[in-house]
Amino acid sequence: MNELLPDGGTIRKLWLGEADAYRDHLLRLDRESRYRRFSGAVSDEVIARHAATAGEIGVVVHGFFVDGVLRGAAELRQEGSLFSPQAEAAFSIEKPWQSHGVGTELLERTLLTARNRGIKSLRMNCLAENKRMQQLARKFDAEFSFDFGSVVGAVDPPRSTLLSLMREAIADSYGIASAIFEAQSRLLRPA
Ligand SMILES: CC(C)(COP(=O)(O)OP(=O)(O)OC[C@H]1O[C@@H](n2cnc3c(N)ncnc32)[C@H](O)[C@@H]1OP(=O)(O)O)[C@@H](O)C(=O)NCCC(=O)NCCS
Repeated sequence: MNELLPDGGTIRKLWLGEADAYRDHLLRLDRESRYRRFSGAVSDEVIARHAATAGEIGVVVHGFFVDGVLRGAAELRQEGSLFSPQAEAAFSIEKPWQSHGVGTELLERTLLTARNRGIKSLRMNCLAENKRMQQLARKFDAEFSFDFGSVVGAVDPPRSTLLSLMREAIADSYGIASAIFEAQSRLLRPA
């Protein structure tokens, strides 16, 4: 798992208390990526307020980490109540790690999580000119439909099964193990 990610990076869910790492990652996005991520120009303050909500109930953020630093993220946000069948997804990858398959891996994880939470409709606010995001979504054509004529894509993740629940649990335990391993490696690394 994750062996194809660049720079030996790993993907795992963000934990409670990692909102600052999420904020710092979003603030590091170059101008164009920030614009695309938020479908418009947003200030640092708006980003900080947004990132602070990452630990809220109904929000799951998968992070792409390189050497313990968050370099990419996929945010899944249920709309309305915790049991709402609708959610919104948004992706952000820092420029040097774009076009290396990170978005593909993050979308796959997000779809699995959405499926296991009973989400029936997943919206992705995507600017019409954002061809890369549209290409990425197309790779999952079999799992959902995406209306490329509009700025909003509708996704219908299939229902959860025992296997899909197990796949998410295995990915989570792998994420914890790799985070512990990475923290230990950093401690042992010569200063
Ligand atoms: C859009 C984004 C999430 C895509 O993630 P990524 O890691 O760059 O994408 P991937 O490497 O997984 O590539 C996905 C597909 O996009 C296409 N693609 C990749 N690089 C591309 C490029 N430079 N130009 C056009 N299409 C490209 C390819 O079809 C690719 O699939 P393939 O390699 O199997 O052919 C990422 O680039 C990003 O964060 N951009 C800035 C913020 C943003 O646009 N967010 C989306 C709005 S929510």
